[in-house]
Amino acid sequence: MELRSLACRADLWINAPHAERVVNKIGMMLKVKNKVQAPCLLVYGRGGSGKTTIFQRLQSLYENADEKLVFVNMRQNPNNWAFRELLFSAFDIAVTKRARATLDISAQLRMLIETRNIKGIVIDEVHDALTLTAVQQKINLSLLKNLSGADYNLSVFAFGTEGAEEVLRADPQLARRYAMHPLLDWQWGDAFRNFVASYINFLPLRLATDLGNKQLLVAMFSNSKGIMDNVVKLLQVCASAAVLDGTERITLEHANNVGLLCHDLGVAWE
Ligand SMILES: Nc1ncnc2c1ncn2[C@@H]1O[C@H](COP(=O)(O)OP(=O)(O)O)[C@@H](O)[C@H]1O
Ligand SMILES: [Mg+2]
Repeated sequence: MELRSLACRADLWINAPHAERVVNKIGMMLKVKNKVQAPCLLVYGRGGSGKTTIFQRLQSLYENADEKLVFVNMRQNPNNWAFRELLFSAFDIAVTKRARATLDISAQLRMLIETRNIKGIVIDEVHDALTLTAVQQKINLSLLKNLSGADYNLSVFAFGTEGAEEVLRADPQLARRYAMHPLLDWQWGDAFRNFVASYINFLPLRLATDLGNKQLLVAMFSNSKGIMDNVVKLLQVCASAAVLDGTERITLEHANNVGLLCHDLGVAWE
Protein backbone atom coordinates (compact mmCIF):
# COMPACT_ATOMS: atom_id res chain seq x y z
CA MET A 1 0.00 0.00 0.00
CA GLU A 2 2.83 2.40 0.91
CA LEU A 3 4.52 1.54 -2.36
CA ARG A 4 1.46 2.18 -4.48
CA SER A 5 0.97 5.52 -2.80
CA LEU A 6 4.53 6.49 -3.68
CA ALA A 7 4.21 5.12 -7.20
CA CYS A 8 1.40 7.63 -7.76
CA ARG A 9 3.94 10.38 -7.52
CA ALA A 10 6.45 9.20 -10.10
CA ASP A 11 6.58 11.41 -13.20
CA LEU A 12 5.42 9.84 -16.42
CA TRP A 13 4.86 10.83 -20.04
CA ILE A 14 1.43 11.46 -21.54
CA ASN A 15 1.25 12.35 -25.20
CA ALA A 16 -0.57 15.65 -24.80
CA PRO A 17 -1.36 17.67 -27.97
CA HIS A 18 0.86 20.61 -26.96
CA ALA A 19 3.84 18.27 -26.64
CA GLU A 20 3.04 16.32 -29.77
CA ARG A 21 2.93 19.56 -31.78
CA VAL A 22 6.47 20.41 -30.69
CA VAL A 23 7.79 16.91 -31.41
CA ASN A 24 6.16 16.91 -34.87
CA LYS A 25 7.42 20.38 -35.70
CA ILE A 26 10.98 19.37 -34.86
CA GLY A 27 10.62 16.26 -37.01
CA MET A 28 9.55 18.40 -39.98
CA MET A 29 12.31 20.95 -39.45
CA LEU A 30 14.92 18.18 -39.49
CA LYS A 31 13.71 17.10 -42.92
CA VAL A 32 14.35 20.48 -44.52
CA LYS A 33 17.44 20.19 -46.73
CA ASN A 34 19.96 22.50 -48.36
CA LYS A 35 19.55 25.58 -46.28
CA VAL A 36 22.41 28.01 -45.76
CA GLN A 37 21.02 28.51 -42.31
CA ALA A 38 19.51 25.56 -40.52
CA PRO A 39 16.01 26.28 -39.18
CA CYS A 40 15.88 26.87 -35.43
CA LEU A 41 13.15 26.83 -32.82
CA LEU A 42 12.66 28.31 -29.39
CA VAL A 43 10.01 26.62 -27.26
CA TYR A 44 9.24 28.93 -24.39
CA GLY A 45 6.93 28.97 -21.42
CA ARG A 46 6.75 29.52 -17.71
CA GLY A 47 8.42 27.16 -15.24
CA GLY A 48 6.30 24.02 -14.95
CA SER A 49 4.78 24.31 -18.44
CA GLY A 50 6.34 21.01 -19.56
CA LYS A 51 9.55 22.01 -21.34
CA THR A 52 11.94 19.56 -19.70
CA THR A 53 9.46 16.73 -20.18
CA ILE A 54 9.43 17.36 -23.95
CA PHE A 55 13.24 17.65 -23.95
CA GLN A 56 13.48 14.22 -22.30
CA ARG A 57 10.91 12.79 -24.68
CA LEU A 58 13.01 13.94 -27.63
CA GLN A 59 16.05 12.36 -26.02
CA SER A 60 14.40 8.95 -25.99
CA LEU A 61 12.78 9.36 -29.42
CA TYR A 62 16.06 10.25 -31.12
CA GLU A 63 18.27 7.78 -29.29
CA ASN A 64 18.20 5.32 -32.17
CA ALA A 65 17.24 7.64 -35.02
CA ASP A 66 19.40 8.08 -38.13
CA GLU A 67 19.30 11.83 -37.70
CA LYS A 68 21.22 12.39 -34.50
CA LEU A 69 20.53 15.14 -32.02
CA VAL A 70 22.88 16.29 -29.29
CA PHE A 71 21.35 17.23 -25.94
CA VAL A 72 22.67 19.79 -23.52
CA ASN A 73 21.21 21.25 -20.35
CA MET A 74 22.42 24.69 -19.41
CA ARG A 75 21.34 24.18 -15.81
CA GLN A 76 23.23 21.01 -14.93
CA ASN A 77 26.45 22.84 -14.57
CA PRO A 78 28.33 21.84 -11.45
CA ASN A 79 31.67 22.89 -12.93
CA ASN A 80 30.38 26.34 -13.71
CA TRP A 81 31.30 25.88 -17.34
CA ALA A 82 30.49 28.51 -19.88
CA PHE A 83 28.09 27.74 -22.73
CA ARG A 84 31.00 26.89 -25.04
CA GLU A 85 32.45 24.31 -22.68
CA LEU A 86 29.04 22.76 -22.09
CA LEU A 87 28.58 22.38 -25.82
CA PHE A 88 31.94 20.75 -26.25
CA SER A 89 31.22 18.33 -23.45
CA ALA A 90 27.87 17.50 -25.05
CA PHE A 91 29.85 16.56 -28.16
CA ASP A 92 32.29 14.55 -26.02
CA ILE A 93 35.15 16.88 -26.84
CA ALA A 94 37.49 16.96 -23.90
CA VAL A 95 37.83 20.51 -22.69
CA THR A 96 41.32 21.02 -21.43
CA LYS A 97 42.78 24.48 -21.03
CA ARG A 98 45.03 23.76 -23.97
CA ALA A 99 42.18 22.55 -26.13
CA ARG A 100 40.26 25.68 -25.30
CA ALA A 101 43.14 27.84 -26.41
CA THR A 102 43.67 26.13 -29.76
CA LEU A 103 41.57 26.93 -32.75
CA ASP A 104 41.27 23.47 -34.25
CA ILE A 105 38.38 22.69 -31.95
CA SER A 106 35.93 23.90 -34.56
CA ALA A 107 37.49 21.56 -37.13
CA GLN A 108 37.12 18.73 -34.64
CA LEU A 109 33.51 19.70 -34.07
CA ARG A 110 32.75 19.84 -37.80
CA MET A 111 34.21 16.37 -38.25
CA LEU A 112 32.14 14.94 -35.40
CA ILE A 113 28.97 16.47 -36.80
CA GLU A 114 29.71 14.97 -40.19
CA THR A 115 30.72 11.46 -39.12
CA ARG A 116 27.93 11.02 -36.58
CA ASN A 117 25.25 12.51 -38.81
CA ILE A 118 24.33 15.09 -36.18
CA LYS A 119 21.53 17.30 -37.47
CA GLY A 120 20.68 19.39 -34.49
CA ILE A 121 21.29 20.38 -30.94
CA VAL A 122 18.63 20.51 -28.25
CA ILE A 123 19.19 22.87 -25.35
CA ASP A 124 17.17 22.91 -22.13
CA GLU A 125 17.14 25.90 -19.77
CA VAL A 126 18.60 28.09 -22.51
CA HIS A 127 17.72 31.23 -20.53
CA ASP A 128 20.57 30.36 -18.18
CA ALA A 129 22.97 31.05 -21.05
CA LEU A 130 21.22 34.18 -22.22
CA THR A 131 20.34 36.10 -19.08
CA LEU A 132 23.87 36.93 -17.96
CA THR A 133 26.07 39.98 -18.07
CA ALA A 134 25.96 41.90 -21.34
CA VAL A 135 29.39 40.65 -22.37
CA GLN A 136 28.63 37.00 -21.64
CA GLN A 137 25.29 37.29 -23.34
CA LYS A 138 26.92 38.63 -26.48
CA ILE A 139 29.39 35.75 -26.57
CA ASN A 140 26.63 33.18 -26.16
CA LEU A 141 24.40 34.77 -28.76
CA SER A 142 27.17 34.67 -31.32
CA LEU A 143 27.83 31.05 -30.39
CA LEU A 144 24.18 30.29 -31.10
CA LYS A 145 24.51 32.00 -34.47
CA ASN A 146 27.59 29.97 -35.33
CA LEU A 147 25.91 26.68 -34.54
CA SER A 148 23.14 27.20 -37.06
CA GLY A 149 25.26 29.14 -39.55
CA ALA A 150 27.27 27.90 -42.52
CA ASP A 151 30.08 26.48 -40.39
CA TYR A 152 28.10 23.79 -38.60
CA ASN A 153 24.62 24.07 -40.06
CA LEU A 154 22.92 22.55 -37.04
CA SER A 155 19.29 23.13 -36.23
CA VAL A 156 19.06 24.50 -32.71
CA PHE A 157 15.98 23.51 -30.68
CA ALA A 158 16.04 25.54 -27.52
CA PHE A 159 13.74 25.37 -24.49
CA GLY A 160 13.51 28.28 -22.10
CA THR A 161 11.45 30.85 -20.27
CA GLU A 162 9.91 34.04 -21.62
CA GLY A 163 13.20 35.70 -20.68
CA ALA A 164 14.94 33.69 -23.39
CA GLU A 165 12.31 34.71 -25.90
CA GLU A 166 12.86 38.38 -25.14
CA VAL A 167 16.61 38.06 -25.61
CA LEU A 168 16.31 36.23 -28.95
CA ARG A 169 13.70 38.65 -30.26
CA ALA A 170 15.93 41.58 -29.39
CA ASP A 171 18.65 40.27 -31.72
CA PRO A 172 17.57 40.90 -35.33
CA GLN A 173 19.64 38.03 -36.78
CA LEU A 174 18.36 35.46 -34.31
CA ALA A 175 14.81 36.81 -34.43
CA ARG A 176 14.80 36.04 -38.15
CA ARG A 177 16.28 32.59 -37.72
CA TYR A 178 14.24 31.29 -34.79
CA ALA A 179 10.66 30.18 -35.03
CA MET A 180 8.97 30.90 -31.71
CA HIS A 181 6.70 28.35 -30.10
CA PRO A 182 4.94 29.28 -26.86
CA LEU A 183 3.80 26.60 -24.42
CA LEU A 184 0.53 27.82 -22.98
CA ASP A 185 -1.49 26.85 -19.93
CA TRP A 186 -4.38 24.45 -20.32
CA GLN A 187 -7.67 25.78 -21.65
CA TRP A 188 -10.89 24.28 -20.37
CA GLY A 189 -12.02 21.65 -22.88
CA ASP A 190 -11.66 18.17 -24.33
CA ALA A 191 -7.86 18.22 -24.51
CA PHE A 192 -7.67 18.90 -20.78
CA ARG A 193 -10.19 16.19 -20.04
CA ASN A 194 -8.31 13.69 -22.22
CA PHE A 195 -5.02 14.50 -20.55
CA VAL A 196 -6.49 13.98 -17.08
CA ALA A 197 -8.19 10.75 -18.18
CA SER A 198 -4.97 9.35 -19.70
CA TYR A 199 -2.96 10.36 -16.67
CA ILE A 200 -5.36 8.67 -14.26
CA ASN A 201 -5.20 5.54 -16.41
CA PHE A 202 -1.53 5.23 -15.59
CA LEU A 203 -2.02 5.70 -11.86
CA PRO A 204 -2.07 2.50 -9.77
CA LEU A 205 -5.54 3.05 -8.29
CA ARG A 206 -7.94 0.13 -7.78
CA LEU A 207 -11.14 1.98 -8.73
CA ALA A 208 -12.09 4.18 -11.67
CA THR A 209 -12.20 7.92 -11.02
CA ASP A 210 -15.53 9.37 -12.17
CA LEU A 211 -14.60 11.98 -14.75
CA GLY A 212 -18.20 12.04 -15.92
CA ASN A 213 -18.68 14.07 -12.75
CA LYS A 214 -18.24 17.52 -14.21
CA GLN A 215 -17.78 19.10 -10.78
CA LEU A 216 -14.67 16.99 -10.24
CA LEU A 217 -13.10 17.98 -13.54
CA VAL A 218 -13.95 21.64 -12.95
CA ALA A 219 -12.34 21.47 -9.51
CA MET A 220 -9.20 19.96 -11.01
CA PHE A 221 -9.04 22.69 -13.60
CA SER A 222 -9.74 25.66 -11.37
CA ASN A 223 -7.61 24.52 -8.44
CA SER A 224 -4.64 23.98 -10.76
CA LYS A 225 -5.37 27.20 -12.70
CA GLY A 226 -4.61 25.18 -15.82
CA ILE A 227 -0.89 25.20 -15.08
CA MET A 228 0.65 21.90 -16.22
CA ASP A 229 2.86 21.50 -13.19
CA ASN A 230 -0.11 22.03 -10.85
CA VAL A 231 -2.37 19.68 -12.80
CA VAL A 232 0.17 16.87 -12.53
CA LYS A 233 0.87 17.58 -8.87
CA LEU A 234 -2.84 17.57 -8.13
CA LEU A 235 -3.36 14.22 -9.85
CA GLN A 236 -0.33 12.67 -8.20
CA VAL A 237 -1.09 13.90 -4.70
CA CYS A 238 -4.82 13.13 -4.84
CA ALA A 239 -4.08 9.60 -6.10
CA SER A 240 -1.48 9.13 -3.41
CA ALA A 241 -4.02 10.18 -0.78
CA ALA A 242 -6.69 7.96 -2.34
CA VAL A 243 -4.41 4.96 -1.81
CA LEU A 244 -3.65 5.94 1.78
CA ASP A 245 -7.26 6.67 2.79
CA GLY A 246 -8.61 3.62 1.00
CA THR A 247 -11.02 5.40 -1.35
CA GLU A 248 -8.88 4.14 -4.28
CA ARG A 249 -10.11 6.82 -6.66
CA ILE A 250 -9.82 10.58 -6.88
CA THR A 251 -12.86 12.31 -5.42
CA LEU A 252 -14.10 15.91 -5.36
CA GLU A 253 -13.00 16.09 -1.74
CA HIS A 254 -9.42 15.19 -2.70
CA ALA A 255 -9.37 17.74 -5.50
CA ASN A 256 -10.70 20.51 -3.28
CA ASN A 257 -8.22 19.76 -0.53
CA VAL A 258 -5.17 19.59 -2.75
CA GLY A 259 -3.36 22.31 -0.79
CA LEU A 260 -3.75 20.42 2.46
CA LEU A 261 -2.83 17.06 0.90
CA CYS A 262 0.30 18.61 -0.59
CA HIS A 263 1.18 20.00 2.80
CA ASP A 264 0.75 16.60 4.46
CA LEU A 265 2.82 14.84 1.80
CA GLY A 266 5.58 17.44 1.72
CA VAL A 267 4.84 18.69 -1.79
CA ALA A 268 5.22 22.38 -2.60
CA TRP A 269 1.95 23.94 -3.76
CA GLU A 270 1.56 27.41 -5.32
N1 LIG B 1 3.33 15.47 -21.32
C1 LIG B 1 3.39 15.27 -20.00
N2 LIG B 1 2.93 14.11 -19.46
C2 LIG B 1 2.97 13.90 -18.14
N3 LIG B 1 3.47 14.78 -17.24
C3 LIG B 1 3.94 15.96 -17.71
C4 LIG B 1 3.93 16.26 -19.11
N4 LIG B 1 4.45 17.50 -19.28
C5 LIG B 1 4.79 17.94 -18.05
N5 LIG B 1 4.50 17.03 -17.11
C6 LIG B 1 4.75 17.15 -15.67
O1 LIG B 1 4.60 18.51 -15.28
C7 LIG B 1 5.65 18.90 -14.39
C8 LIG B 1 6.41 20.09 -14.95
O2 LIG B 1 7.00 19.73 -16.18
P1 LIG B 1 8.47 20.18 -16.62
O3 LIG B 1 8.75 19.50 -17.91
O4 LIG B 1 9.45 19.98 -15.51
O5 LIG B 1 8.25 21.75 -16.86
P2 LIG B 1 9.33 22.90 -17.17
O6 LIG B 1 10.59 22.24 -17.65
O7 LIG B 1 8.67 23.74 -18.21
O8 LIG B 1 9.53 23.65 -15.88
C9 LIG B 1 6.51 17.66 -14.17
O9 LIG B 1 6.09 17.01 -12.99
C10 LIG B 1 6.20 16.79 -15.37
O10 LIG B 1 6.33 15.43 -15.07
MG1 LIG C 1 12.56 22.53 -16.99
